[in-house]
Amino acid sequence: MSKLVYIETFGCQMNAVDSARMLSLLESADYRPAPSLGDADLVLLNTCSIREKADQKIRSALGELRRWKSARAGRLVAVGGCLAQQEGARLAGRAPHVDLVFGTHSIARLPDLIRNAEKGSSRIDIGLSGDTSHWETLPYLPDGSVTAMVTIMQGCDNYCAYCIVPHVRGNEISRSSREILDEIRGLADRGVTEVILLGQNVNSYGRKEGEISFPGLVRKIAAVPGISRIRFITSHPRDLDPETIGLFGEIETLCPHVHLPLQSGSDRILSLMGRGYARSEYLSKVKSLRRARPGIAFSSDFIVGFPGEKEEDFEQTLAVMEEVRYDSAFSFRFSPRPGTRAASMPDAVPSAEAGRRLRRLQSLQDGHTRERLDACIGKEFEVLVEGRSARDEAQHFGRTPCYKAVNFTAEETGTGPFRRVRIRAAGSHSLSGVEGDHRD
Ligand code: SAH
Ligand code: SF4
Ligand code: F3S
Repeated sequence: MSKLVYIETFGCQMNAVDSARMLSLLESADYRPAPSLGDADLVLLNTCSIREKADQKIRSALGELRRWKSARAGRLVAVGGCLAQQEGARLAGRAPHVDLVFGTHSIARLPDLIRNAEKGSSRIDIGLSGDTSHWETLPYLPDGSVTAMVTIMQGCDNYCAYCIVPHVRGNEISRSSREILDEIRGLADRGVTEVILLGQNVNSYGRKEGEISFPGLVRKIAAVPGISRIRFITSHPRDLDPETIGLFGEIETLCPHVHLPLQSGSDRILSLMGRGYARSEYLSKVKSLRRARPGIAFSSDFIVGFPGEKEEDFEQTLAVMEEVRYDSAFSFRFSPRPGTRAASMPDAVPSAEAGRRLRRLQSLQDGHTRERLDACIGKEFEVLVEGRSARDEAQHFGRTPCYKAVNFTAEETGTGPFRRVRIRAAGSHSLSGVEGDHRD
């Protein structure tokens, strides 16, 4: 009889898709997905270490697993992902109930590692070996899925001063375009119609490997029958080139939304961060994107309180926000990460001051988010239906081409994954509406 595995995923979409791949891989070690933690024989934490808060959350989740493990003999605890990569042996030393610590490059070996852990041997595997053979395994995808994430690269070569990712994910490695296209054709055969291409810096796809360029890849994906929505994340503003910007005018199935993390609106701070672009270059790319696809939506990430950030630097971030008026944004207080350049930079911003800036930024963004959502009221959108609404089973949940979340009521007569939805109201982060050409 097969055993049950429960995976708890922290962090970004890279981790989400890695977890889905782990589920597929573990089938070969005779594990099926567990409906809940209580049923599981093996629990696997796929961790993140992007900010200290993520660290703390995981450490407390790990603490709670001590009781879970002792409740039944033979239960196993495995920890993988970025925090596992960062902490390695230290993590295993501090938490004796952890049976296996495996790094971000050990995914392909997971079935063997778990078999060894079942026998009580070898607890740690965290070499950054450059092994990408896990890409040959398709991520687990629930039946009926219409959207899927597709890894196109891993790691990052940018070493932004604040960021742990290159340290824990290793250098950038792109996947072969043949393998990516095969995976996407297979997904389309299973009914998937939207693909989200994943990488820390998708615009530099294939450069090191001499592969086709990122725009070349997107064009090939657009030609796959059945794929009617393409998205990608994340674009580094420095590497977003004119050809990629042009794709938004050229390929209709490329969705009108770009996640373009600004981080800071001050050139001085951008340079300390090592981001490789100036505010004016960023803004001119925003303009070109708007020219290529009028109405395109923008989202961003911001860090406030980076070492040396003065009030006037922060004001410049707010000024760029006023100019772009992002549809949505993630914003964070700077968090020093071990081994990064910024962790030892002088002129730390006092935490209370960073908190105040963060609140100001978030309240400005809340207003812009609201304004962008309100502008959708009364309009009709093609919504890709992903399932039932989390807050009301009677409603459906989906996303507009601009990636806005929509909860809506529908006549059950509609078929196919897309519905025309008229927006009736806007909340603080999502829209609600009704299917069809209903008018008030
Ligand atoms: N590859 C993406 C982002 C990956 S991390 C990019 O280049 O933009 C996601 C976001 O976390 C970053 O955009 C940044 O805003 C935030 N972040 C990363 N390291 C951080 C740190 N040390 N402190 C606070 N926020 C951080
Ligand atoms: Fe981190 Fe910068 Fe790479 Fe993004 S581009 S993952 S922020 S180092
Ligand atoms: Fe992602 Fe967190 Fe790792 S954001 S790449 S899971 S550090």
